[in-house]
Amino acid sequence: MIKVTQKELLLIRDFVESNCGIVLDDSKSYLVESRLGPILPEIGASNYLELIVSATKDRSDKLKHKIIDCITTNETYFFRDQKPFELLAHKLIPDVLEKQLNQTKIKLRIWSAAASTGQEVYSVAMVIKELLGKVTDHDIRILGTDISKNALEIASRGLYGKIELSRGLTGARLKKHFTAKEPLWQVNDDLRAVAQFKPTNLLTGATLIPIQDIILCRNVAFYFSKENKQRLFQNLAKKLETGGILVIGSTENLVGMDLPFERKDFHGNIYYQKK
Ligand SMILES: C[S@@+](CC[C@H](N)C(=O)[O-])C[C@H]1O[C@@H](n2cnc3c(N)ncnc32)[C@H](O)[C@@H]1O
Repeated sequence: MIKVTQKELLLIRDFVESNCGIVLDDSKSYLVESRLGPILPEIGASNYLELIVSATKDRSDKLKHKIIDCITTNETYFFRDQKPFELLAHKLIPDVLEKQLNQTKIKLRIWSAAASTGQEVYSVAMVIKELLGKVTDHDIRILGTDISKNALEIASRGLYGKIELSRGLTGARLKKHFTAKEPLWQVNDDLRAVAQFKPTNLLTGATLIPIQDIILCRNVAFYFSKENKQRLFQNLAKKLETGGILVIGSTENLVGMDLPFERKDFHGNIYYQKK
């Protein structure tokens, strides 16, 4: 494997942080070598300096996206951390429904910001179907965005293998919400019909995202600097009406940030309501 020099690591750090916000610390040389090393022979570069110079010169941004795809950690699984999905099922979605008691068609907008390969979006869709019975009879949209185009391609297909399906999904849910497409399983058409995926950089490109009822932004802010965390949550706040809900990762918090959110606690489940 081609070794990265200290100087190249600094250059890559700047490139990655300015393009997607992810902070790579000095101990990340192995990560850089293992994830970006394979690109070097592909583009005929003999070192990481050449890679970054080529990416900076490339007007199509293809190489930039390739670097981002390789450097981002797309770890996710169905019903990750469980509790946010209980919160959605027992509090957040019933609250939205209550406000629309007289409507025959429920309108619901949920955004999985940093959706990775889609498991969070489809977990939300399963929760909604289990609450409402039929999702396609209503005006429901679950938007999944991510900076990684590779991850979103997987998400859009909704096709998962044994390993992904063994993480977080019960046998009953697999049977109910998926169809076998040997050797994979595909999320059923009705759930895929309410899901939509779109590449978005949360630090720069969220302007076109419509206003949401609920935003899930989990396990991405912890890769960002304090300034970018503040920027990220400010961008998300703009996409919620007063009273709209933000759910963040179980190891994340909004402490020390100047944001228009009130911290709420539902049986030990923390969420944030826009003031
Ligand atoms: C660890 S995954 C979290 C996925 C999911 N939210 C969960 O909790 O399971 C983090 C995701 O954030 C995405 N990401 C990183 N920086 C981003 C940015 N600036 N804008 C949008 N997505 C970003 C990565 O591509 C990755 O898919």
